[in-house]
Amino acid sequence: MADSHDHEKELDKIILKSPALLKYILETSCYPREHELLKQLRDATLEKYQFWSLMNVPVDEGLLLSMLLKMMNAKKTLELGVFTGYSLLTTALALPNDGKITAIDPDKEAYEFGLPFIQKAGVDHKINYFASDAFTVLNDLIKSGKEEGSFDFAFVDADKENYLNYHELLMKLVKVGGIIAYDNTLWFGTVAQLEENVKELALRKGRSNVVEVNNFLAADPRVELALVSIGDGLTLCRRLY
Ligand SMILES: C[S@@+](CC[C@H](N)C(=O)[O-])C[C@H]1O[C@@H](n2cnc3c(N)ncnc32)[C@H](O)[C@@H]1O
Repeated sequence: MADSHDHEKELDKIILKSPALLKYILETSCYPREHELLKQLRDATLEKYQFWSLMNVPVDEGLLLSMLLKMMNAKKTLELGVFTGYSLLTTALALPNDGKITAIDPDKEAYEFGLPFIQKAGVDHKINYFASDAFTVLNDLIKSGKEEGSFDFAFVDADKENYLNYHELLMKLVKVGGIIAYDNTLWFGTVAQLEENVKELALRKGRSNVVEVNNFLAADPRVELALVSIGDGLTLCRRLY
């Protein structure tokens, strides 16, 4: 069972601003269902990375991603932005034994910090990790001439200023009917605030990127879209053509 410190950390990264309701959701249906190694990874990340541990997707979002991947029978996925690998381990646990994840993040140190937990869970054979920026790897996949339309799912949780560039590449790599999921699309709630009212500079910069992404995706006829108010906002795009 999680302690009160866990709740505070989870609150930082979750868009739902009712602490009591969030505590209820987490305690009732999330922590008891969190895989033991995901819990260990989350705790270890908090201990080592302190504030930045908020980059791990929260437990409720992890459970949703896991169910979605299984409902889709996803087998081949892309992961842009790994950090210590909470969403990566979630995905690796959800895919079948012969599933494959192309995981990309230039921060090899953070990936290697989380790797022992992934290995202990016995799912590291599903992961092909690239210590690189996502743009290079996605372009290489397209250039190879063998990967277009071959991915079932992509989880995008990397540099927000490139989401729209990634979108064009992912619309080629993810198959028709597949899902591209964009994380942090409510950006700590700031998307609903006037820019001048967002005091923190870092949040303000991210806000304008995320607002631009949201406006673009909302009008993109190539996808069916659902913006889910879980975690820090998760936009699911299903490729239509
Ligand atoms: C929010 S964290 C990812 C968290 C992860 N999905 C999880 O649940 O633990 C964002 C990550 O994106 C990575 N990143 C930043 N720029 C990137 C780029 N150009 N390509 C790929 N990853 C990038 C950062 O190194 C960082 O580890």
